[in-house]
Amino acid sequence: MSKTFYIETFGCQMNAHDSEKVVGTLVSQGYSQVPTPEAAELVLYNTCSIRDKAEQKVFHRLQQFKKDHGKGKVFGVLGCVAQQEGQSIFEKAPHVSLVCGSASYNQLPDLLVQLESGNKRVTGLSLDTEETFETPFARRDNPHRAYITIIEGCDKKCAYCVVPFTRGPERSRTGESVLGEVHQLAMAGYSEVQLLGQNVNSYHDPSPAGWDFATLLRKVGNVSGMRRVRFTTSHPRDFVKDIIDAIDENPALCNHVHLPVQSGSNRVLDRMQRLYTRDDYMRRIEWMKNAKRNIAITSDIIVGFPGETAEDFEETLGLLDAVGYDSIFAFKYSKRPNTPALRYDDHIDEDEKSRRLAIVQEKQRQIQIVRNALLVGTVEEVLVEGFNKATGQWIGRTSQHKTLNFIRPGDSGDALLGTYLDVRVTRSGPNSLAGESVN
Ligand code: 5AD
Ligand code: SF4
Repeated sequence: MSKTFYIETFGCQMNAHDSEKVVGTLVSQGYSQVPTPEAAELVLYNTCSIRDKAEQKVFHRLQQFKKDHGKGKVFGVLGCVAQQEGQSIFEKAPHVSLVCGSASYNQLPDLLVQLESGNKRVTGLSLDTEETFETPFARRDNPHRAYITIIEGCDKKCAYCVVPFTRGPERSRTGESVLGEVHQLAMAGYSEVQLLGQNVNSYHDPSPAGWDFATLLRKVGNVSGMRRVRFTTSHPRDFVKDIIDAIDENPALCNHVHLPVQSGSNRVLDRMQRLYTRDDYMRRIEWMKNAKRNIAITSDIIVGFPGETAEDFEETLGLLDAVGYDSIFAFKYSKRPNTPALRYDDHIDEDEKSRRLAIVQEKQRQIQIVRNALLVGTVEEVLVEGFNKATGQWIGRTSQHKTLNFIRPGDSGDALLGTYLDVRVTRSGPNSLAGESVN
């Protein structure tokens, strides 16, 4: 009888894709995936530690299963919390037997053997790897859009961020290996790929070809069968104009750039160790605004970073207007272990952070109402991602990564999933568009 496992994933797309690779690896080792932890012999949590709340989730989950310890289940903690907390997880949650960070997933088959032979304290916590986690077995969740890792780890030292500690130093995959995977995915029927990395812009092909990110982007965009290429996430410091030129040249490269700014104040950016000024950032925004294509721009914002004054915060609000983002993710600053900002002595209280967060979110909502209204009357190509039975509308995704719900009389069920259609935008709201199919 095959061994069963359950996996739950928290955090970013990197983590989601890591889980796909972990699932593939487990299946290749004779395990089968089950939909609930109750049904599983091996229960895995692939964790995130970007903010305190994300980290607490895994301990909450583990707590729920404390009493199952004796019932023969084996628990494993993977990902960023595993790397950050290491062996101390065994103390906090004694029913855990496996602790493994993402830089050690190559060792998973070995670690599984150790678990199977009854070892109760199995760890993979090394960060000093030159390798990326490549597996021929990734089990992808979405039949149309595939994630592909191009670079792992991060060498930046943003003062608030745990990632350099949890995902280790930057390692790029060879261009040949990335292209090989894209070709395989195209053959398997995928039409959209998303290139992943903590900082895709610092991609550097380690093979003699030495491609930079824009070169890789062009090559991936030229693979026949790939209709949409996305990438995330970008660091403004390493973001070059050639990336915009590549997007202008090739319609397969989606007209959407996620370029996290974090703050609109030079003083805060400096204390965050972001390595760019507001002007540097705005120059990159100008490249996008001057592009031939209508490029959607999105961002991440942190409010209440230590020492952020009312004036600093105003500058962030002003930057939202100056850029006119299509959407943002905004977060309250959260103290993280090991990070330089932890030692700053001017932390801001939670209520004030919450107040600033609400202001940012409301301001951005207003901006989105205006931005989305500009699309009313245009025809957008969508990838059909779902059907909403309650409203009778299809759910489409534009190249700009906006949700466009639409009607198309005569089709229902799954008929259109994964196809591309032209849709005229007839209405808009802050978070989505609505329209009708024109073909
Ligand atoms: N507190 C709040 N937000 C954070 N982020 C990263 N670290 C922290 C932190 N300590 C946010 C940044 C980043 C996004 C992925 O998460 O905005 O771009
Ligand atoms: Fe969370 Fe960052 Fe780890 Fe992704 S890389 S799972 S966002 S801590």
